[in-house]
Amino acid sequence: MRVIDQPGALKRWRAGCTRPVHLVPTMGNLHSGHLRLVEQAAADDAEVVVSIFVNPTQFAPGEDFERYPRTPDADLDTLSGTGCDVVWMPAPETMYPLPEASRFGLRPPPALAGCLCGAHRPGHFDGVCNVVMRLFWQIRPDRAFFGEKDYQQFVILKKMAEDFSLPTVLEPVATVREPDGLALSSRNRYLDAAERPIAAGLHQALCELAERARKAGPGTFPVLERSAKTRLETMGFRPEYVEIRDSETLGPPTGRRDRAFAAAWLGRARLIDNVALRRQ
Ligand code: PAJ
Repeated sequence: MRVIDQPGALKRWRAGCTRPVHLVPTMGNLHSGHLRLVEQAAADDAEVVVSIFVNPTQFAPGEDFERYPRTPDADLDTLSGTGCDVVWMPAPETMYPLPEASRFGLRPPPALAGCLCGAHRPGHFDGVCNVVMRLFWQIRPDRAFFGEKDYQQFVILKKMAEDFSLPTVLEPVATVREPDGLALSSRNRYLDAAERPIAAGLHQALCELAERARKAGPGTFPVLERSAKTRLETMGFRPEYVEIRDSETLGPPTGRRDRAFAAAWLGRARLIDNVALRRQ
C-alpha cells in the first residue's frame, strides 16, 4: 500500500495505472462502515484508492471541523490489512490551491440540497460537491463508492455525475450498523456511556415509522412523521427532522421507492439515519 500526499506523485501513479481505478472518499477516522466500502471497491480487479481529507468547506462556522477526530496513523494501520492500494492524503493547499475569493465552485440545486440535512446545514452540500469533484479530477476514478448512511449525499453526487456527464460510476453501499442498529459513524465517539444505548433509538424509530407507513399509506405520512419525532424527543433526542421522501428525487413520497430520513442530536452528537419503506 502506497501513501501519496503530493499531486505530482499522484499524477505519475495515475498515468501508470493499467487496471480500472476505484475510489473511496473519506474524512478518515476509519471504522467498519468505511471498510465495507473499501471491500466493495476491491471486489473486482481494480486499483483501490482511499482518500483521507477532512474537508473544511463542508463544515459551517460553529460546526465540529476543529474537533472532528483525526487519526491518520491508526487509519493507515487499518487500511494496510485491506484491499487498499493507494491512500491519497492531500494537504489543504493541494485540494484548494487558490484562496477562497479566487476559487471556482459548484452549487447543487436547492431541490436536492435545500431539504433534509441541507436545510439544517446550509452550504454543506456545496462543500461536499466541490471536494468530490476535485477528488474526481485528481484521481479520475472509473467507479466511486459511497455509503447509504449519507443517502442525501449519495443522491446529490449521483446527480452531479449525471449532470456533468462524468465518466465515474457512483456505487451505493448499504449502511453498516452496530448490533443494536446504530449506524457506524465517526461522530458516535461524541456519545457518552449513558447516551450510547439511547442512540440506537434513532434507527428503531425509523424502522417503526417505515413499518407503519408501509401499512397505512401516504395519506398518514405527516402524522406518522410527527409521532416519530415526538417519540425521539421522549427518548432524549433533539430531532431536526423526520421525513419520508422519494429516494431518487428527494421530493414528496411517491409510494414506489420512498425512504424515511431522520437527523437528531443526542448530547454533543448529531446522528443521521435512513431506511427504505420497502425492501429494494
Ligand atoms: P465520511 O463521513 O468519512 O464518510 C466516508 C464514506 O463512508 C461516505 O460515503 C459515507 O457514507 C460512508 N459511511 C460512513 N459511515 C458508514 C456506515 N455506517 N455504513 C456505510 N457507509 C458509511 O462522507 C464523507 O466522509 C464526506 O462527506 C466525503 C464524501 C468524504 C467528502 O468530504
